[in-house]
Amino acid sequence: TLMEQFTGMDQLEKKLAALFQIERCLIVSGNSDEQEKVIGEFGELIDEALQRQLPDGRNIIAVMGGTTMAEVARHVSPLETNKRHNLFVPARGGIGEAVAIQANSVSALMAANAHGEHRVLYVPEQLSENAYHTLLKEPSIKGVLAMIKEANCVVHSIGRAVHMAARRKMSEDEIIRLKQKNAVAESFGYFFDENGAIVHKVPRIGLSLEDIQKMPIVLAVAGGKSKAKAITAYMKNAPKQTWLITDEAAANEILKGK
Ligand code: F6P
Repeated sequence: TLMEQFTGMDQLEKKLAALFQIERCLIVSGNSDEQEKVIGEFGELIDEALQRQLPDGRNIIAVMGGTTMAEVARHVSPLETNKRHNLFVPARGGIGEAVAIQANSVSALMAANAHGEHRVLYVPEQLSENAYHTLLKEPSIKGVLAMIKEANCVVHSIGRAVHMAARRKMSEDEIIRLKQKNAVAESFGYFFDENGAIVHKVPRIGLSLEDIQKMPIVLAVAGGKSKAKAITAYMKNAPKQTWLITDEAAANEILKGK
């Protein structure tokens, strides 16, 4: 029956939250590797979580990019009230993605759907160290960076390490080094091995993992059987207040043999 299905999912959510020692897990039925509509359902859950968790007052919501986040953004509904105002910013700048799935684009789309505001962080991809430091002194960039550092909410995804390295056009050498260090997961521009230890950082501006540890609202969204290892690795050291939104296929694969 439907009721049994619900309780079954409830058990799975509790098990997963207990395994990762995080506040909450929400699981959508299906496998997002094969069914695109599952990612739309992630979006609806993220929307509900934001509706519930964002306090009154001024919120700054930092978001990451990627294909999951781009689809999630399409499902956000108005989050503004008389008392609640929301500003969306990219969590990090220039970590290398196609325009449509960059954090800037995801943040702009979320803001439009949420009836909130957004700010863009312009950081070109291939910059010399010098140009990079000069850019960081620009008042407009400094201003947006300060807002990012004040974010009280972050919405992000988790990817597979080598897949992400290739998608971002990291060099052959760098990819070999990632493999030697057994990198399996990527999030926020950091690469993690199976124990959740950081094995590589992409030196870019924006939120650091330390900032995220202290953030009141942390929503992680990633699913599909193919991401089970990546999710497990990242979640080992994820902030305890994290809510993980995932799917049944990933959850079952993660809990296999546990
Ligand atoms: O590059 C941004 C990012 O959020 C990464 O941190 C993450 O690994 C990846 O995108 C996830 O991408 P996708 O949703 O396409 O799997």
